[in-house]
Amino acid sequence: MVIFMQEELNTLKEEALNLLESVDSLEKLDEIRIKFLGKKGKITSVLKSLGSVAPEERKTIGMAANEIRGKVEAIIEKKKEELKLKEIEQKMFNEKIDISITQNDARTYGHKHPLSIVIDDMKEIFLGMGYSIAEGPEIETTFFNFDALNAPIDHPSRDLQDTMYITEDIVLRTQTSSVQVRAMLDKKPPIKVISPGRVYRSDSVDATHSPMFHQVEGLVIDKHISMADLKGTLDIFAKKYFGPKTQIRFRPHHFPFTEPSCEVDVSCFVCGGKGCKTCKGEGWIEILGAGMVHPNVLKAGGIDPKEYQGFAFGMGVERIAMTKFGVSDLRYLYENDVRFLNQF
Ligand code: DAH
Repeated sequence: MVIFMQEELNTLKEEALNLLESVDSLEKLDEIRIKFLGKKGKITSVLKSLGSVAPEERKTIGMAANEIRGKVEAIIEKKKEELKLKEIEQKMFNEKIDISITQNDARTYGHKHPLSIVIDDMKEIFLGMGYSIAEGPEIETTFFNFDALNAPIDHPSRDLQDTMYITEDIVLRTQTSSVQVRAMLDKKPPIKVISPGRVYRSDSVDATHSPMFHQVEGLVIDKHISMADLKGTLDIFAKKYFGPKTQIRFRPHHFPFTEPSCEVDVSCFVCGGKGCKTCKGEGWIEILGAGMVHPNVLKAGGIDPKEYQGFAFGMGVERIAMTKFGVSDLRYLYENDVRFLNQF
């Protein structure tokens, strides 16, 4: 009897240990527990049957059965902890959010408008040369837009056909040059500023005209400033903006607010000066007007022309953007058609 029960216990132990070895879920673990240690479990049954064992053998069998029960219980407890942990890990893995995943994007991201690209590039070059930004209003007095800039009372630019008047002495500024005298009244020389912004003229819209466009004005005032400083500055600007091989050319011109005045061309950055579609066969592209600040303008700004001199320049952003990006019609720049804007 003892031998028989001992063998049965050994088989039960082996069976239980085998099953516990490969158990992979809490559910299955509980099934094993019930199978061996439950009310009607196999080990429980052995323990229950001890009563029918001869008293002298009861102790041996009882101890062996209890030992097996203890061992199986201990393994079940250990497995339970392991499986619980595994379950938590699995849950965390399943609920993990992959933040590195790229969204198949329904939204598209915008970027700078071509005119802003040009203005920002220009700003960067001049800020790098120590200039700061000066601002002025787009709704301007005729004083800053014309009178202070030495424009005679009968100057054609004052004509109603050219300028948009709000009242007799308030206009939509026709040029960023209007910021010049404001800058002079604002701070003492030396002055070194650029002023980008919108300007307005009563033009009808076509491929090369718009009633609103952009200019970048430049103004430098200090002692001993000459035309050589203007030339050097614009040469550096042209090489930085259009490429290191770019040459500049000065042509005499007239502006009321500068004396002498000139127009400045850059050698064509596409053909290098041989003549092509971009420069319309000229080899040169006109980019700005410039000159030495007229003494009357300095006076209007409260600056003594005997002590200080200055140079100024003004360029049209649209013209430069169109040549640089090869845009044939000015209107594309304002229509906000993404098929056009996506190209920049
Ligand atoms: N204001 C001029 C224009 O709109 C451009 C210009 C010419 C600006 C000469 C200047 C300058 O500062 O010196 O056509």
